[in-house]
Amino acid sequence: MTVAERQAALEGIAAEVRVCTRCRLHETRTKAVPGEGNPDTEVLFVGEGPGMNEDREGRPFVGRAGGFLVELLASIGWRREDVFITNVVKCRPPGNRDPEPDEIAACAPYLQRQLEALDPAVVATLGRFSMASFMPGVRITQAHGTTRLADPATGARDATALALYHPAYALRNPDVARESFEDIARLPGVLTEARDRRASRAASAAAAHDASRSATMTPMPDPEAPTTPDPVTAPPTMDAGSLEPAVPDDQLTLF
Ligand code: URA
Ligand code: SF4
Repeated sequence: MTVAERQAALEGIAAEVRVCTRCRLHETRTKAVPGEGNPDTEVLFVGEGPGMNEDREGRPFVGRAGGFLVELLASIGWRREDVFITNVVKCRPPGNRDPEPDEIAACAPYLQRQLEALDPAVVATLGRFSMASFMPGVRITQAHGTTRLADPATGARDATALALYHPAYALRNPDVARESFEDIARLPGVLTEARDRRASRAASAAAAHDASRSATMTPMPDPEAPTTPDPVTAPPTMDAGSLEPAVPDDQLTLF
């Protein structure tokens, strides 16, 4: 997907979220909060659900918790504009109660589609509810600061999940705040590792693709036939009847 296609996909999802009535949270919301950020990012942050300020503005993490998230990002030299930020549920649970399992399930397709559009290398989860979507069955006191491969069923094709405490929890607990700085300090290294894994996976997929193409597309050897172009560089639409190089062989050395 090109960046423009990603952006269009994300805007399409956001437009659906803003008018969504799939769960009861639509009845009490002021504005739904689809999420926002850089459509070309490699890192997606996933929080729990909008709070009062987010519900008012229709934007994620704009209250005090958002201020702390921005501080965490600044501690590794990042800005919120560099990443994409969204939540497990896109509408505020009344009174900031926990989201219910049926609300999380109703909203999950939006997060899944955001993951498919962004194809992030890293998903940083903020808090227990977000972590549960990417690292089922672990406890945040043990799992914070650790990574897992995200299950592709989430929509993340090939992403490392990094568990972080929820910034609102860190604001209430100085020890958790200190640990949050330690945990986010791992993020640049986690991103580098995830990039390397994705690059080697892409390279081996390309090699397998080329191997299967040359197995199926190389014509039977014919001593009379003109030299065929290398299948690696041949345009994918070329068929056996048009295997004539565009440039005569004797001129190829000019390039
Ligand atoms: N807490 C969240 O989980 N998400 C927000 O967007 C704001 C606060
Ligand atoms: Fe729709 Fe999600 Fe809002 Fe529920 S929380 S109404 S599923 S956007």
